[in-house]
Amino acid sequence: MAVTEIESYLASRQQLVQEALEKSLPPADSYPPAVHRAMRYSLFAGGKRLRPILVLAAGEAVGGAPEPLLPAACAVELIHTYSLIHDDLPAMDNDDFRRGRPTCHKVFGEAVALLAGDALLTQAFAVLSRVEGGIPAAKVLQAIGELAAAAGSQGMIGGQVVDMEAEGRTVTLETINYIHTHKTGSLIRACLRLGGILSGAGEEPLAILTRYGENLGLAFQITDDILDVEGDFTQMGKKGGMDAARGKATYPACLGLEKAKEIAGELCAEAQELARSLGPAAEPLYLLAGYVLARQG
Ligand code: IPE
Ligand code: IPE
Ligand code: MG
Ligand code: MG
Ligand code: MG
Repeated sequence: MAVTEIESYLASRQQLVQEALEKSLPPADSYPPAVHRAMRYSLFAGGKRLRPILVLAAGEAVGGAPEPLLPAACAVELIHTYSLIHDDLPAMDNDDFRRGRPTCHKVFGEAVALLAGDALLTQAFAVLSRVEGGIPAAKVLQAIGELAAAAGSQGMIGGQVVDMEAEGRTVTLETINYIHTHKTGSLIRACLRLGGILSGAGEEPLAILTRYGENLGLAFQITDDILDVEGDFTQMGKKGGMDAARGKATYPACLGLEKAKEIAGELCAEAQELARSLGPAAEPLYLLAGYVLARQG
């Protein structure tokens, strides 16, 4: 597929993902409705769907079709959405807006928000275990293991813990890099690896996808930090200025806005170079790295 425009690529993939996500959760009114409504409220509040699209684009880059990857794409978005619900809780970032709406706990209460997050996390693995399109079971098992590790205490949760510990403190750039590469980078890296693994990527392309994911994951959290300083509520769907208010360990706080932008630019350029090395089928990955750098929301 020749991709000339990132917007049309994003729109077509968002639609594929949306339809698959729709089928990935029980209906809102299924018993007990309180939790199913809350799960759907947060999952279908919007969101860029960057992570599931990265799964599809990684597969495409190594010659895979998007359809068999949809369970994996949905699984990462379910985990991402759970992480946002919990991240917004009063015990964590205490945020009132997400994806342009009041946060899950503001609408459904803290207990249901916690449980909706738990249910999204576990549902992710139920969805991922659904083998499709003749993908060998051994590859699915590998994907399940990698996603679990990426989401766990040595991945995303590890990053969230150190993010909390760093609040209100002056920390080294090394600690900030740990936070960013774990709380955000781990899941994004896993998106690239899952897309590659489930599409039968060889060792070398998989290593390139992994490095692309590592560069993009760190760049993505740096741009999130930058948008918290200078982004716009309508485009972000969440309130800015919260990191400074809470004394969060961020790139702009540690290095200043200009340096943060420069590093994000370098990481995205490196990701683009890696995408180029995979050949023309990796054009979507190339364009996605540009999109991450330029995004306003
Ligand atoms: C927000 O992620 C949380 C971070 C890891 C920075 P996104 O900016 O991808 O949020 P949605 O999915 O588009 O709402
Ligand atoms: C969130 O990081 C990372 C995870 C949810 C795992 P942030 O706390 O910076 O994300 P936002 O700014 O609330 O979206
Ligand atoms: Mg947070
Ligand atoms: Mg937050
Ligand atoms: Mg943030």
